[in-house]
Amino acid sequence: MTVFDDLDAWRAVRLAERRAGLTLGFVPTMGALHEGHLSLVRRSRAENDRTLGSIFVNPTQFDEASDFERYPRTRDADLEMLRAAGVEYVLVPTRAQLYPDGFRYRVVETERSRVLEGAQRSGHFEGVLTVVLKLLQIAGAERAYFGEKDWQQLVLVRGLAEAFFLPTAIVACETVREPDGLALSSRNRRLAAADREHAAAFPRALVSSPGAESARRALEAAGFAVDYVEDRDGRRLGAVRLGGVRLIDNVPLGGRA
Ligand code: PAJ
Repeated sequence: MTVFDDLDAWRAVRLAERRAGLTLGFVPTMGALHEGHLSLVRRSRAENDRTLGSIFVNPTQFDEASDFERYPRTRDADLEMLRAAGVEYVLVPTRAQLYPDGFRYRVVETERSRVLEGAQRSGHFEGVLTVVLKLLQIAGAERAYFGEKDWQQLVLVRGLAEAFFLPTAIVACETVREPDGLALSSRNRRLAAADREHAAAFPRALVSSPGAESARRALEAAGFAVDYVEDRDGRRLGAVRLGGVRLIDNVPLGGRA
């Protein structure tokens, strides 16, 4: 596995491999890797000749500086997991490399970025879409892999690729869950033991409540602070807080759980 902190060195490798006819799958991450991320890697490995991962904790998508600073940084363990999963290449860009413009240039979406997560976290999707555009341009991949766990992000990234005629196909990957149903997330490790046990009630309420309002009431009765529960486009999406940790999840409506 080759780790690139030099973007030009990566571009030279990509150019040579493209000339040789090798396809590339790209898995962008912020590190603190777990099985959810690795499921994206495995899908990419199955569908492409080479897989590129990236690790970059993107400052522009955090609405609170303290959240950015607290984000877990586990680079050595992350690189080891990517190596063990068979990834060939990893990008570890710096803020200065990715933002030579100092974030003067931004991607703004004016509708779907303003609801749900976007209504709660001002500027979040501007930061996400801007960094994803940069990363997709640098990667030069045939396919890029995103988790359904972050459903709104997935929808917006798909829209970005269409709106700007990006040559990379956006591939959606199912949410990986713990045996009790809690979606894997780097934030789960911040849950106290008792809260961790209780947290599985969140996806259960999303799946089993007859409507979004009753899901909200069930969650509140179970001790969660509810940011939102909404049904949109055949999915039920929710965000809750438990013991100071914010969890998001979504499930298909009326189908499998
Ligand atoms: P991050 O939270 O590290 O997630 C990287 C990718 O892993 C995302 O596509 C996310 O949806 C996916 N993922 C996370 N948990 C998952 C799970 N339990 N099952 C399946 N997929 C899961 O999302 C980001 O980083 C950033 O916003 C990024 C796109 C890298 C831009 O900075």
